[in-house]
Amino acid sequence: MQDLDVEGITDAVIAQMADTPDPRLRQIMEAAVRHLHAFAREVDLTPDEWLKGIAFLTAVGQACTPYRQEFILLSDTIGLSRLVNVMHDAKGREAAGTETSLLGPFFREGAPEIELGGSIARIAKGPELAVFGQVTDVEGHAVPGATIDIWQTDADGQYDLQANDPSVMDMRARLHCDAQGRYHVRTLRPIGYSIPMDGPVGALVRQQARHGCRPAHIHILVAAPGFRELVTALYLGDDQYIDSDTVFGVARSLVVTPETGLPGAPAPDVPSVRYDFTLSRATDDAGGRVGSDPSKLVPAG
Ligand code: BEZ
Ligand code: FE
Repeated sequence: MQDLDVEGITDAVIAQMADTPDPRLRQIMEAAVRHLHAFAREVDLTPDEWLKGIAFLTAVGQACTPYRQEFILLSDTIGLSRLVNVMHDAKGREAAGTETSLLGPFFREGAPEIELGGSIARIAKGPELAVFGQVTDVEGHAVPGATIDIWQTDADGQYDLQANDPSVMDMRARLHCDAQGRYHVRTLRPIGYSIPMDGPVGALVRQQARHGCRPAHIHILVAAPGFRELVTALYLGDDQYIDSDTVFGVARSLVVTPETGLPGAPAPDVPSVRYDFTLSRATDDAGGRVGSDPSKLVPAG
């Protein structure tokens, strides 16, 4: 029998979990308990505050649907998603490989396929923007036929799932690079937008006096056999939120500025961004996306 005082309770819990057969589960749960208990001691958590925390997490769970993952949004807004991304990158991305960014909750499988030079804007209207460049490996060799998924908000800052009913796909497409790894796609200029603020995470962000916005960006996923899947995004450098992204997705190397008359631009009169993506070789580590299609995360039944 152990006295369960303020320190002893932590040891007692860890001792009871010590025979967990899966060593990784044992390591994760032991560290989680140690850090959670240390947190409660540090802030001197009261029963009222503990209950409020439970009510908050309950509301986060209840806000999840096949089209909305409030827990990932919580992870995003407290920087946990970005931290996991950065740690994962440090293990598998080659030094010259393009930096990754958050997948976010609006990626959808099965986007319409378009030809090189086609537009991802099927319904939405707004100022045009073109993105072009080449996909290479870290030695600069072209990656022929790489697949690019591209998705973003419309010019009003809304994703298709927000602007239309879920059967509609717009402002997203899949294209295939040519034999030299080159790609060219037309889109609309995105604007900065608010993360979903109508749930418990939005309420918390508001209580923290944060604006809840992301700078304008274009999500990109590049895949090719033998290479690590690249989940990234291009951020427009002149956006007011570029230095205060609510979900901490921006990296300096991913900031772009559209220009007309760029050398090699397939549509020189259209404001364009040239961005070359550099893929890292695949490793045993399967890659893994931080965040994914939310409908896959909701338990059946
Ligand atoms: C997004 O970029 O789509 C996004 C990422 C994290 C939270 C909300 C939105
Ligand atoms: Fe986004």
